[in-house]
Amino acid sequence: MASYTFLSLLLFSLLLSTFHPSLQQNTLHGSFPLTSAPLSDTSAFKARYLSTLAAKKAAAAPFGYNFHSSFKYSMALIVSLPIGTPPQTQKMVVDTGSQLSWIQCHRKSPRQQPPQAPFDPSLSSSFSVLPCNHPLCKPRIPDFTLPTTCDQNRLCHYSYFYADGTLAEGNLVREKFTFSISQSTPPLILGCATDSGEAEGILGMNLGRLSFISQAKVPKFSYCVPLRTRRNTVSPTGGFYLGHNPNSNTFKYIKLLTFPKSQQTPNFDPLAYTVGLAGIKIGGKKLNISAAVFHPDATGSGQAMIDSGTQYTFLVDAAYARVREEVVRLAGPKLKKGYVYGGSLDMCFDGDAAEIGRSIGDMAFEFDNGAEIVINKERILDEVGDGVHCVAIGRSESLGVASNIIGNFHQQNLWVEFDMNNRQIGFGAADCSKSA
Ligand SMILES: *[C@@H]1O[C@H](CO)[C@@H](O)[C@H](O)[C@H]1NC(C)=O
Repeated sequence: MASYTFLSLLLFSLLLSTFHPSLQQNTLHGSFPLTSAPLSDTSAFKARYLSTLAAKKAAAAPFGYNFHSSFKYSMALIVSLPIGTPPQTQKMVVDTGSQLSWIQCHRKSPRQQPPQAPFDPSLSSSFSVLPCNHPLCKPRIPDFTLPTTCDQNRLCHYSYFYADGTLAEGNLVREKFTFSISQSTPPLILGCATDSGEAEGILGMNLGRLSFISQAKVPKFSYCVPLRTRRNTVSPTGGFYLGHNPNSNTFKYIKLLTFPKSQQTPNFDPLAYTVGLAGIKIGGKKLNISAAVFHPDATGSGQAMIDSGTQYTFLVDAAYARVREEVVRLAGPKLKKGYVYGGSLDMCFDGDAAEIGRSIGDMAFEFDNGAEIVINKERILDEVGDGVHCVAIGRSESLGVASNIIGNFHQQNLWVEFDMNNRQIGFGAADCSKSA
């Protein structure tokens, strides 16, 4: 009898422990407003370029070591997230192209109000530093390119140079993201930048084991980039979901491509969201580009990725040349000769953007299974200043990379869902300003 009671108790507690998590929603989820805004000058996001550079230095050799750091008013996707205990709201750039997350970390001055104020570790009970003997603090971790050292305080210290030559440094730390009383992550490994200045951090969202989604075990996330124009005085607001997105029944999915370990050649980023881009259409006409140009070759060149952290779209030469040819054929006489914006965009125009858009027509990025991202003719040009408008596509070589990158300009008014469990990416047309 006693054993029977024991068994049923055991069974009961097993049942409880099985059902509790699903009732309590053990995985992190939630929705947040997302803005598409120019980065502040001191953004930690700049750091990304250096680590990407370091990793790709060898690979970039055919192009020389010539990196155009960024567009001065680079548009980034920014969310405000509650970090620490009690939570301090921090602005972070959502970056599907990088791994480690960073926050600006030092004592608040009394004038600063959230979310502009940096993160003040002394006000958080869940903050801790990563000690030197942590494996991450050993040099040469294979999947982690950040150079770390053990500092004189026995803390894991990093330092790097921005593309513009300024030095940034800080420590690796652990801190929780605290969304509500019932929802917080375990302490996650983050970079804690000690530069002065108020700036955005980075939410590293790639497939690496140290990215936010991997550490927080978020199985999927999605964002909707609102339309932007230079005339917006306030940044328009779109949406960002961790976990399930209630609009996902309208999404079309494409598979993420996976590659054997042997594919990990210098030009290849194994932690990126690699998709099977199949072709590009302009004005309804499919350009004569071999699909092989959009798939990694033996050196890893040609990988096609969806990136939230790159503003414009960049194509390898074989594809770029066909796009430019077609744009010249359709709108050549209006082309601003010899003009290059930001070292990359060389299909630019003076004059009436709507008229030029009409003469070029809609564009589409077509994927292996027939799914498309369609760019309406009204949105193929970006105003870069002084009334000049450019087709928002550049040559990958001008960035010093060998990949095809679909940037956030071409993800406006679109839900983009990154689903790690099912290894797929979903797209759903939307009015993102209504998604907040
Ligand atoms: C497409 O391009 C290839 C070479 O890249 C060329 O041989 C072929 O003739 C082109 N096809 C058309 C229809 O222009």
